[in-house]
Amino acid sequence: MASSIRVAVAGAAGRMGQTVCGAVESAPGMELTGRADPALDTPLGDVLENADVLVDFTVPTSAVANAREAVAAGVHVVIGTTGFDPHELTDLKDAKANVFIAPNFAIGAVLMMEFATEAAKHMAKAEIIELHHDRKVDAPSGTAARTARLMAAASESGATPPIHSVRLPGLVAHQEVILGDVGQTLTIRHDSTDRESFMPGVLLAIRKVGDLTESPTVGLERLLGL
Ligand SMILES: NC(=O)c1ccc[n+]([C@@H]2O[C@H](COP(=O)([O-])OP(=O)(O)OC[C@H]3O[C@@H](n4cnc5c(N)ncnc54)[C@H](O)[C@@H]3O)[C@@H](O)[C@H]2O)c1
Repeated sequence: MASSIRVAVAGAAGRMGQTVCGAVESAPGMELTGRADPALDTPLGDVLENADVLVDFTVPTSAVANAREAVAAGVHVVIGTTGFDPHELTDLKDAKANVFIAPNFAIGAVLMMEFATEAAKHMAKAEIIELHHDRKVDAPSGTAARTARLMAAASESGATPPIHSVRLPGLVAHQEVILGDVGQTLTIRHDSTDRESFMPGVLLAIRKVGDLTESPTVGLERLLGL
């Protein structure tokens, strides 16, 4: 039997980090070997030695440096942190470990982006409303920014849909794409009502990051064959 994948989590004291730690501990074929977080007084360097994969759910200002440190130590990286430019990591393409980045690990959100991109080919204009809990630090969300980029590339006009950001207590992660054309609108909406929605995608990325043929790879759809 193959040995289990050793997983360390950066941002382990945070909302997503804690949920990831629990999911890894319950997942077959995986072992949680480290929790890095300034709130736990544990620097990243302390957890890399015993890890095959680092999962990063931290802050936009840390994700790039954390990924560089992990890759330099030969540890593959799965990044869920949003609000940084994935292009900042393109120089790692020939490094000895791989990087996988997803602005959204929920399958429903990935499908929402796919459907919105398809719809953008056929309808005249669109706008995006993204709604998140009021402690989210970045705006617009990584999911909305990626949806807008994909829709602009697919549409005839090439126009980037405007993004409206809502931050309120009571919300988790939600997005609505509204497309308009003569005499009609189409609304595509996704709601993550619980952080558990992201866990199947995170676990899939942990299992696949070591086998990527292109690094960095961006988007869960790349692992789902969509
Ligand atoms: N990709 C997705 O599907 C998805 C889903 C939800 C949230 N997110 C993103 O995940 C990130 C974290 O969200 P959250 O709600 O858990 O935030 P949070 O504020 O609850 O947690 C962030 C944690 O990171 C820690 N941290 C800060 N700098 C660090 C460093 N250098 N090394 C290690 N840990 C560090 C903080 O102490 C904190 O505990 C955000 O960027 C958010 O947008 C992504």
